[in-house]
Parts: sequence; C-alpha cells; structure tokens
Amino acid sequence: MTSFPLPNLNYDLTGEVALVTGATAGLGRRFAKTLAAAGARVAVAGRRAERLAELVDEIAADGGTALAVQLDVTDAEAISAALATVEQELGLITILVNNAGTPDAKRAHKMSVELVDTVLGTNLRGPWLLATGVGRRLIEEERAGRIVNISSMGAFYTSGSGAALYATTKGAINRMTEALAVEWASRNINVNAIAPGSFRSEMMDGMIERVGDFSDTFPRKRWGDPAQLDSTLLYLTSPASDCVTGTVIKVDDGQLPR
Ligand SMILES: NC(=O)c1ccc[n+]([C@@H]2O[C@H](COP(=O)([O-])OP(=O)(O)OC[C@H]3O[C@@H](n4cnc5c(N)ncnc54)[C@H](OP(=O)(O)O)[C@@H]3O)[C@@H](O)[C@H]2O)c1
Repeated sequence: MTSFPLPNLNYDLTGEVALVTGATAGLGRRFAKTLAAAGARVAVAGRRAERLAELVDEIAADGGTALAVQLDVTDAEAISAALATVEQELGLITILVNNAGTPDAKRAHKMSVELVDTVLGTNLRGPWLLATGVGRRLIEEERAGRIVNISSMGAFYTSGSGAALYATTKGAINRMTEALAVEWASRNINVNAIAPGSFRSEMMDGMIERVGDFSDTFPRKRWGDPAQLDSTLLYLTSPASDCVTGTVIKVDDGQLPR
C-alpha cells in the first residue's frame, strides 16, 4: 500500500436506518439481510406477516437489528403509517430500497382493469409514494439519504410474451430515478436504480412455471443468484457512490441483447 488517497470503499452502515419493501421473498429478503449485516437497522416490509417475523428473527440471530412492518404498498395511508412507525421505532429512514414488485404475466390486451391497477399501484405508485415520503422527511431534517429503486432489464427489453405493463412501470421507475435525483441533488439525497436480469426468486419461479426454464438461452447458462446483487446495493448505499445519482445500474450477467 502507498499513501495515495484511495476511495472510501467502507460498507459500514452503522447508524443508518433502512427500509426494504418486498422483504418477504426473493431479492428483497436478501437486500434486507445484506444491509443488516453491514450494520444498518432495517425495517422489513411486505404483506405476509409470518415471513416478516421469520426474517426479523434471522437478522437478530445474526446480530443485526430489524423491525417487521406489515405493508401493502398499494395502500397510500398504510405507507404513511408505516413510514411513521419506522421512524418512531428505529429513527429517521436514511436508506430506502424500493423493491416490492409484481409481474403482470398476461398479454396486454387480456389484462383486466383490476390487474392494471395492481401492477401500476405496486410497481409505480407505491414506489413513488415511498420515495417522496422518505425524501420529504430527509429534506425536513436536512439529512442525507440514499434511495435505491429496483427496476428491471424489462425496462430496456421486452420479449413480447406478456410483460408489457411490467416493462412500462420499470421504464417509469428509471425516469423517476433520474428526475428525483436531479430534484434532490442539492438535498444530498442520491436516487439510483438497479436493473436486475433474471435472478432466482418467487417471481422467477412463477415465470419458470409458466414458460419453462430458459436459462440455457443465456450466455452463461445460469440464473442470477440474489447474492450477486449485494455489491451493487452496498455500493449505492455507501460513501463510494457519493457522486453517483440518477443512474440505473444493469446487473444481468450479459443475459439480454442490448
Ligand atoms: N427476480 C428477478 O429476476 C427480477 C428481475 C428484474 C427485476 N426484479 C424486481 O425485483 C423486485 C423483487 O422481485 P423478486 O423477483 O424478488 O419477486 P418476489 O420473489 O415475487 O418478491 C416480491 C416481493 O414483493 C412483495 N410485494 C408484492 N406486492 C406487494 C404489495 N402490494 N405490497 C407490499 N409488498 C408487495 C412481496 O411480498 P408480500 O407478497 O409478502 O407482500 C415480496 O416480498 C421487483 O421489483 C421485481 O420487479 C426481479
């Protein structure tokens, strides 16, 4: 080692309070455990209370601190209440991982209005209300924060096999990421997104059930493992990415054509 000033690659999130939505399964469950392992106090949100309780216990067993917050992200009042509860129990939320999401899994012309509302409500309106709710409190308290929106490679590429509205919402998440980043840059709130390719999760298991295992079409012939998103998440929530805001980082193992 020399005395040359290398970047701060410390992932220590001690003192930070994180909220991870969609923490009962898949990527969100992993994100919550990763942030807790890095030292953040983590509020885990989702509709399935038993799953939340299990996760809180697992994080505690690993020496971390977590709080279960039962939340349906399509419910605006419940979002306000959840944000208030987390702040009261753990402190001001300084990291939001806007992860809860749902597929449409239907051809566009066959979707009911109810399904359209569910997909828009879960994948776009909910994340918007959560980001602005967290951002509002950070601005009021003049504190810095990090928002990580979970987008998808579906924002850039669609196969035409029934994910048109999902792709639309993820494209909007990318634009929301860029727009909020500019609006809040002066407030020291960084807003970025991760666009995963195909990773193992409940959502992916559902897709495999519908269309079969297509991982052999990928150059590396494998599914992503949620753990392979850890480093990107920690990068976006730690000092190393101080100057990075309004960016969508693709993490897809080279799966999709560009
Ligand atoms: N897996 C992939 O390959 C992949 C690729 C690209 C993008 N993504 C994105 O990554 C995120 C996580 O996906 P995943 O694959 O991990 O899916 P998953 O295994 O199906 O998990 C989805 C999570 O979202 C929560 N959720 C769904 N609707 C909700 C609602 N109305 N209110 C609150 N929570 C809700 C679920 O919790 P409850 O059911 O308990 O509420 C669950 O914890 C999503 O935004 C997805 O679009 C995933």
